[in-house]
Amino acid sequence: MQGFSSRLSLENNGVENLVSVIVDLFGAGTVTTATIILWTLVYLLHNPDVQEKCFQEIKENIGQSRLPSMKDKINVPYVEATIMEVLRRADIVPTSLPHTVPHDVQFRGYTFPKGVPVIVMLDSVLQDPDVWGDPDNFRPDRFLDDTGKIVKKEEFIPFSLGRRVCLGESMARMELFLFLTTMIQRFKFVPVDGQMPSLDAIIGLTYSPKPFLVKAIPRM
Ligand code: HEM
Repeated sequence: MQGFSSRLSLENNGVENLVSVIVDLFGAGTVTTATIILWTLVYLLHNPDVQEKCFQEIKENIGQSRLPSMKDKINVPYVEATIMEVLRRADIVPTSLPHTVPHDVQFRGYTFPKGVPVIVMLDSVLQDPDVWGDPDNFRPDRFLDDTGKIVKKEEFIPFSLGRRVCLGESMARMELFLFLTTMIQRFKFVPVDGQMPSLDAIIGLTYSPKPFLVKAIPRM
């Protein structure tokens, strides 16, 4: 997510460039995915019915005797919809990354001169009441049609969009599916001493949940 590519230079040797790219990928690819896993736990604690529905879907379509694999994804749309809803609601990179316009751009009566920094507010789309109706509610069903299949919405842009869309989107979605499906398959997550985690975020490079306690009870 965070671009450090300014360190890349044609004058650098290949090894230095390789190190920069690896640092970029680790920097952008670890905190983001880990933060969504934490937010998923927060929303599962607040919505035990959603957690139970995910578990039942996993139990019926994958079982509990083997690890989930990517081949299972198509058979657990409610789990997929739940992950999408966490990505939408948690909105962990609400301002995306700053960009500049490559030439003068006219937009809605305004001129953006060449080179001016532009910050795209992803949350103006991910939390737009005109698009989602009840954006404040955590409701995985919004991503399912009447037959229970995943609905693709063009406004679902937690990884931004366009030419500079998150480079790791497909990897992140794969990791989230495998980690979260396995976690829900193996454990029931419950609050400790009835204390619910806060839904307010700590605002930093990403929006992350405040520290919270969770009890993981083995399912088998
Ligand atoms: C849930 C996980 C993730 C979220 C929500 C996320 C979100 C984003 C967003 C919003 C951007 C900005 C796109 C823009 O500039 O318009 C971005 C950029 C980027 N992300 Fe991710 N990301 C995630 C995981 C990952 C992973 C796993 C990797 C790598 C393995 C990664 C690598 C990158 C890189 C390299 C960029 C910069 C791309 C560029 O400037 O061309 N991200 N990400």
